[in-house]
Amino acid sequence: MVDDKLRTPGAVRDAERWTAHNYHPLPVVISSAEGAWLTDVDGRRYLDCLAGYSALNFGHRHPQLIAAAHAQLDRLTLTSRAFIHDQFADFCRELAELCGKDLVLPMNTGAEAVETGIKVARKWGYQVKGVPAGQANIVVAEGNFHGRTTTIVSFSTDEDARADFGPYTPGFTVVPYGDLEALTAAIDENTVAVLLEPIQGEQGVVVPPEGYLPGVRQVCTERDVLFIADEIQSGLGRTGATFACDHEGVVPDMYLLGKALGGGIVPVSAVAANADVLGVLKPGQHGSTFGGNPLACAVAIEVVRLLATGEFQRRSAELGERLRDGLEGLVGKGLVGVRVRGLWAGLDIDPALMSGREACERLAARGVLAKDTHGSTIRLAPPLVITEDEIDLAVTQLAEVLAG
Ligand SMILES: Cc1ncc(COP(=O)(O)O)c(C=O)c1O
Repeated sequence: MVDDKLRTPGAVRDAERWTAHNYHPLPVVISSAEGAWLTDVDGRRYLDCLAGYSALNFGHRHPQLIAAAHAQLDRLTLTSRAFIHDQFADFCRELAELCGKDLVLPMNTGAEAVETGIKVARKWGYQVKGVPAGQANIVVAEGNFHGRTTTIVSFSTDEDARADFGPYTPGFTVVPYGDLEALTAAIDENTVAVLLEPIQGEQGVVVPPEGYLPGVRQVCTERDVLFIADEIQSGLGRTGATFACDHEGVVPDMYLLGKALGGGIVPVSAVAANADVLGVLKPGQHGSTFGGNPLACAVAIEVVRLLATGEFQRRSAELGERLRDGLEGLVGKGLVGVRVRGLWAGLDIDPALMSGREACERLAARGVLAKDTHGSTIRLAPPLVITEDEIDLAVTQLAEVLAG
């Protein structure tokens, strides 16, 4: 019997009635949250094992971030880049230092950071490398996810993301992910950049073979090509290091950052690179009204300071081992594959058992929120403030779901 006092069914119906159906959310309606926990409109509590696709690395409403947002809301929220504000330089400097780069260009969403990276790489190609006008190409990987703009979906290999959104932007060569030989062969004299996720998140937390990223770094250096690492989902502590590239000692020419940079409060993205790369942009050639706004910078400064302590990277690395142990124990018991880096896991459920969607629905019914990605794969990305007991709880609930 349906409890007619529950607010969730009506709220789900209303959301479906009044919005384009470009998402297929779980039928859970959240009204408040703290740390790793969410509460819905009917008072049910859920352990958040998605963390806003890693936008909530520091948990919901981290006190230091909320305090910075409140203080900034009381002083100044927006200037546009027509003027300079008093949070701007500190944000750019502290993020540049965290990245070990000369300069930062702040934007808002991840897709905008990717677009910025593409534009900068092309301009660098024409002005610095000497590529003939209009001939620049960028090498990307199969299974990539870099966002939703028309240019970005032009080089997606996911038909759902791409179909019927043409005509497509030319200038991209797609090669298999993790195949250094194919990537090397795809580079020609007009290649300006290789654009990669160091771990493919949307594809199901796909970790490339060891040696791949250093190999990409080397070939990019040898062939005068920029290595652009899209760390929008993998970066800022998620994998047990500041950047996923750090695990193999790789330093790309350009970091693309987003999601967690906004502390789960405001959209903040950024490109970080050295002056010989980002310096190609001159006034009027690129920008965004909201990019680098005072509220965004005030929150993101605190994000960078949280990361500068190293505490979250350490937590992610240590707790990630516990998550790995728990999940590996389920291989053969409903899972057919597990990939874990820090507090980031891709789980392949035996497709004979259930779809990823079904698993997530059953997990939600048990108070754990996660998200399927493709077919029977689900991704776990809990906030880095999660505790050992909460990890055990998530693994136990998953085990119960898989046991039927
Ligand atoms: C690796 C990567 N790049 C870019 C994006 C796009 O970010 P946004 O949704 O903020 O535009 C995402 C989002 O999931 C992502 O995972």
